[in-house]
Amino acid sequence: MQTQQTPLINPFGVELDLEKGLMRGAKNHLVRRASDMRGYYADAAALQRLIGEENDPVHYEVFEVPVPENYGHLMYCISTLRPGLVGQEYFMTKGHYHSIPNTAEIYLCLRGEGYMVMKTAEGKFATERMTRGRMVYVPPFWAHRSVNTGTSEPLVSFCAYPAEAGHNYGDIAVQGFPKRLFAKNGECVVA
Ligand SMILES: [Fe+2]
Repeated sequence: MQTQQTPLINPFGVELDLEKGLMRGAKNHLVRRASDMRGYYADAAALQRLIGEENDPVHYEVFEVPVPENYGHLMYCISTLRPGLVGQEYFMTKGHYHSIPNTAEIYLCLRGEGYMVMKTAEGKFATERMTRGRMVYVPPFWAHRSVNTGTSEPLVSFCAYPAEAGHNYGDIAVQGFPKRLFAKNGECVVA
């Protein structure tokens, strides 16, 4: 029905490094450093110390080979979220809604350990464990952020979502999520 809006392209394949979280030949390579995360962590002074005294470490990287952002296509990525703490808060991604909110996403965890943290505009909140071999289904309408609760390993995951979905950082840049994940006495605490 909507085929005239779906460009016909040729099949292709890509090579992924599932351990390192790399995509060979990726056209898009997003790198977020500590300095890109201002306003997202509870302890702004601790983040500033990371930026100023620890060479602004990378928080996460996302690789994509883009496909047409049209109905019918599937966007996919591999991402690597480094281990680390900002104060007592685990390294995390910014988190986003999809610009077209009624679009889902799957994340297959390939390495490391952490959580997918999710919320809805109506105030629902959820977390799902991410460990190697576990897939998290993020339903339509749920904003999502991943958090690396490991002490030394990166959190590597493969994602796929409708190509037209887009990213909406929306109120997350201002309000964040209802709860955060902290390391306290070696344990992950959701507070
Ligand atoms: Fe997403």
